Amino acid sequence: MIRYLTAGESHGECLVGILEGLPAGLAISEDDIALDLKRRQHGYGRGERMTIESDRARILAGVRYGLTIGSPIALLIENKDWPNWRERMRVDDPGADMRATPLTTPRPGHADYAGAVKYRHRDLRNVIERSSARETAMRVALAAVCRKFFCEFGIAVVSHVTQIGAAKAPVRSAELAPETIRDLSDASPVRALDPNAAREMMGAIDEAKTRGDTLGGAFEVIASGVPAGLGSYVQPDRRLDAVIAQAMLSIPAVKAVGVGIGWDAAGLFGSGVHDEMFPAESDGVRRVTNRAGGIEGGVSQGERIVIRAVMKPLATLSRPLKTVDLATGSAAEALRERSDTCAVPAAAVVGEAMLLLALMNPFLERFGGDSMSEIRSRFDRRVESPWA
Ligand SMILES: Cc1cc2nc3c(=O)[nH]c(=O)nc-3n(C[C@H](O)[C@H](O)[C@H](O)COP(=O)(O)O)c2cc1C
Repeated sequence: MIRYLTAGESHGECLVGILEGLPAGLAISEDDIALDLKRRQHGYGRGERMTIESDRARILAGVRYGLTIGSPIALLIENKDWPNWRERMRVDDPGADMRATPLTTPRPGHADYAGAVKYRHRDLRNVIERSSARETAMRVALAAVCRKFFCEFGIAVVSHVTQIGAAKAPVRSAELAPETIRDLSDASPVRALDPNAAREMMGAIDEAKTRGDTLGGAFEVIASGVPAGLGSYVQPDRRLDAVIAQAMLSIPAVKAVGVGIGWDAAGLFGSGVHDEMFPAESDGVRRVTNRAGGIEGGVSQGERIVIRAVMKPLATLSRPLKTVDLATGSAAEALRERSDTCAVPAAAVVGEAMLLLALMNPFLERFGGDSMSEIRSRFDRRVESPWA
């Protein structure tokens, strides 16, 4: 089983992450991780920080001569603008006169207020530094290692953006090979598969920016090549859809998750929702639709896993929302932290990371071992039909 933890503040010296439970013998390099970090940083509507950052993860432990050795993998990503924050984020106390002016005007829609109440902070900087989505860079780095692992078993995870504000793309991912989805969305500034929809989405972002406002949207994450039998219906916490939903909802600003056609199922007849089965040429069954998104009864059934997620508009507006100054109790404008106009394309890449991480334990539960060769032999001997 894998476990992972991340640490680090948004403007602190670095982010660190530990991923434990990966087998020995997986080939991995810093360049493999850099690819995914770069994909997270792209996207129309993102602010200037993305140009400062150009994230790169260093592998500090768990890998020798290019292969995992079974011990915990430790990664480090330096924050490139740390020198500008060194004084405001110092670990030692320089004394009351030298501390930065406390932030006291919480932004509605952020953890600012709830975090201050919970941890009794009088300086909101102590909340916003860790609640910031900057932390998702480390999730993407850790998940890049999982992507390498799944590659060995023919499992690929890709994403694309389906909506930004009112601009929607026709969802036609089911017709496309995973590599095509990846190439098209990586080439699009908004990760949309359809160029006309992409233009509309960029127009919507421009308009929001002009108004000093922000936009959210929706994206789809797809895992192909996932074998039948991951997850289980026997306990609530083993249901694969529940495990994936938890992972997706852990992405900051993601407020709704759908499996397959998700919330579209609410208005349809059962005959228009369930995926009928037909005799397959060899073992098992064949389907012509995948509205279930590859999961039935909490168990993967062999079709692509399709997850949809909704991201709310970002809560830091350049035309700030009304709030209360917690120090004085008077009406105020929410604090202005450097912010993006729209981060849906980046969130889709984080969505890939969370699906990769969420699939690890159900996969290891079924095929796990301590080395890649052990897992491969289990995987290759898998039998999908009880009659085989
Ligand atoms: C990749 C990514 C980038 C984000 N960038 C910003 C941002 O620039 N400004 C902002 O206000 N929120 C941003 N967010 C969303 C906030 O982190 C999130 O809304 C906030 O932490 C409150 O959490 P909640 O929306 O889940 O309640 C981003 C989220 C993601 C996934």
